[in-house]
Amino acid sequence: MTDTEKRLELCMQAVADRIPFKPRIALVLGSGLGAFADEIRKISEIPYGDIPHFPVSTVSGHDGRFIFGYAGDVPVVVMKGRVHYYEGYTMEDVVLPIRLMRRMGAEILFLTNAAGGLNKSFVPGDLMLITDQISSFVPSPLIGPNPESLGTRFPDMTGIYTRQLQELIKDAAAECGIGLREGVYIQFTGPNYESPAEIRMAAMLGADAVGMSTAVEAIAGRHAGFAICGISCITNMAAGISGQALSHDEVKENSARTAPAFRKLLWESIQKMAEE
Ligand code: HPA
Repeated sequence: MTDTEKRLELCMQAVADRIPFKPRIALVLGSGLGAFADEIRKISEIPYGDIPHFPVSTVSGHDGRFIFGYAGDVPVVVMKGRVHYYEGYTMEDVVLPIRLMRRMGAEILFLTNAAGGLNKSFVPGDLMLITDQISSFVPSPLIGPNPESLGTRFPDMTGIYTRQLQELIKDAAAECGIGLREGVYIQFTGPNYESPAEIRMAAMLGADAVGMSTAVEAIAGRHAGFAICGISCITNMAAGISGQALSHDEVKENSARTAPAFRKLLWESIQKMAEE
């Protein structure tokens, strides 16, 4: 057994008798988006700090716990708070929760985040369906030994974000009257926001939104066999686009402002996924 497998096994042992059901969907709630957890009928929760070997977030606005409950009739496990590479964790730490939720039996990984908008047609408060991603500026979470129990050595990244899930989310948005943008997410390491020159580069590369999470989780999720979908909440225009300086407070304020539409879209999307 590799160290990664051992850690995963220890985490699984620590949570096994506290998992009330096999979750269908694993949901990761980004900065300021944690309130969605209040919508579900909660059965139980596990603070990350209770799990030995589990990475615990240090960022304000990032509560850290797994919540198990039902969204309607759909059993879900929600990650309220994630850990980031910029906190000093290894990429293996960063994606351990994703692997653990796959071990719990979840089939769909629903990723959400707060992101800066690069696409000039976006405005703060927009929601963006993630259609693809660029992770070339952060290390792959799959670097290192690859025990086959975790996934294949060279996983395909064509269609990381499952087409069918994208269609369901678009239908849910249309039915709720919520405007939904679409685009490519690029991950940088953070914790500093990007420079305007970096943002111009990212835009030239085809990115529409920028953030400090998600892409590596999607890689590990794909490796682990999840069907994946993702939504970015555009909390600010990326550096140099509006001319305004960026602040974490602005990010938190705008994600809170978008929260009602975001919650509705998440809820309706999950209901549709359950019908499939
Ligand atoms: N850059 C990186 N991460 C972010 C941003 C941004 O502009 N906004 C929210 N998260």
